[in-house]
Amino acid sequence: MLNIVVMVSGGGTNLQAVIDAVESGEITNTRIVGVISNNKNAYALERARKHGIKSRCISPRDFASREEFNENFISAVDEWEPDLIVLAGFLVVIPPAMTKRYQNRIINIHPSLIPAFCGTGFYGLKVHEAALERGVKVVGATVHFVDEGTDTGPIILQKAVEVEDGDTPEILQKRVMEQAEWQILPRAVDLIANGKVEVRGGKAFVSR
Ligand code: GRF
Repeated sequence: MLNIVVMVSGGGTNLQAVIDAVESGEITNTRIVGVISNNKNAYALERARKHGIKSRCISPRDFASREEFNENFISAVDEWEPDLIVLAGFLVVIPPAMTKRYQNRIINIHPSLIPAFCGTGFYGLKVHEAALERGVKVVGATVHFVDEGTDTGPIILQKAVEVEDGDTPEILQKRVMEQAEWQILPRAVDLIANGKVEVRGGKAFVSR
């Protein structure tokens, strides 16, 4: 059984996709042991509560220094002894000590086809604004392992989505979520839970 902790900051639709997939059996061998939010008002926390999943709020704002936050954050995660950490729209930078301890055991969903529109500053609507600004015809989402860089870890799954005439950043964001993010994040968790993902030489290999 793969014990996962999901980290969130906002609405939690990706968390919901994982919860639904666990409950429907689309994801097997997996238990969500806890949800961590840096934002006490995140609707994602309500979603966890509705499904009887433990949650915890921990924010850098509650600590005098980043170091102090990082230590407490890592201890909070360790308490749940996760096999996998799933970043589902989590907007806090993961401390290097955590990426080291949980090497190849943290995954993130990013709303673009990495290496396009990723890295520092590319989050939320900014990603979709930049894609429309550049005039690309295809966008998408990526699930990747988290290393010490920003959106630089081994890529597990990607899914493309077409840009349509008249798209606004908001419309595009919604289409990318519906057609890509909510599908590939649960699929990646299921693949990992069933031993189908292996990292070699800085790349992830998926067997099906
Ligand atoms: C998603 O677009 C995700 O790709 C990004 O943040 C957003 C989170 O949305 N990293 P939600 O909280 O899952 O609804």
